[in-house]
Amino acid sequence: MAVEVLTPAQRYKLDGEDDAVFYRDPRFVHHLDEAFRARLTALYREQIPPCATVLDLMSSWVSHLPDDIRYERVIGHGLNAQELAANPRLDSHWMQNLNLDQSLPWPDDFFDATLIVAGWQYLQYPEAIAAELLRITRPAGQVIVSFSNRMFFTKAPQIWTDSDDREHLDYVADVLTAQGWEHPTQVAETTRATGVMGLLGGQGDPFFSVIASKARP
Ligand SMILES: C[S@@+](CC[C@H](N)C(=O)[O-])C[C@H]1O[C@@H](n2cnc3c(N)ncnc32)[C@H](O)[C@@H]1O
Repeated sequence: MAVEVLTPAQRYKLDGEDDAVFYRDPRFVHHLDEAFRARLTALYREQIPPCATVLDLMSSWVSHLPDDIRYERVIGHGLNAQELAANPRLDSHWMQNLNLDQSLPWPDDFFDATLIVAGWQYLQYPEAIAAELLRITRPAGQVIVSFSNRMFFTKAPQIWTDSDDREHLDYVADVLTAQGWEHPTQVAETTRATGVMGLLGGQGDPFFSVIASKARP
């Protein structure tokens, strides 16, 4: 059983329709700009060992993993079959609405690293997801939850829409530690826009990430 952190009111979202409807049509767009994506790929290069078995939860047609690193297996999850089928990094994928069913169909200690990008903000039951991620991650493995400052507002629960970037980081870390994840590290950085805008000092999407690990036996 997951340790509850949110109140029922904090799980409320404006659009209560099944999330599968919202994601039914594929969106072959980038949800995060090039500067954010480059920072995320660099973080993955630092944090995820080659040959790791990786879960990209709440994925789409991109996984942001470095192109030149070979992982043992990359498994994706999401809500749109066409996006997942078009993702070149995935060896396999499945679809599941995590706001209806939080049980993840993987054995204990299966993954070396579990990733969520621009997805945590849509979870109404993040405690149960964090507990499941802990179960399916091997001892000393990691969870990496990354996001920026944008969202589909009507699809995000109140805990997210009513708080700022710093509070989002604390919230993710609090939920993870409540389920037993250890040593949460928060990353909060500005990014430099790419191209001419960057040369002129323009900023890209701000980069936020929480990295936590599963206890060693
Ligand atoms: C903004 S997109 C981010 C996609 C991808 N991680 C990326 O970096 O581009 C949010 C993703 O969260 C997933 N998602 C949202 N609500 C969900 C739900 N209730 N159950 C499962 N996945 C959900 C969808 O797969 C959607 O593609």
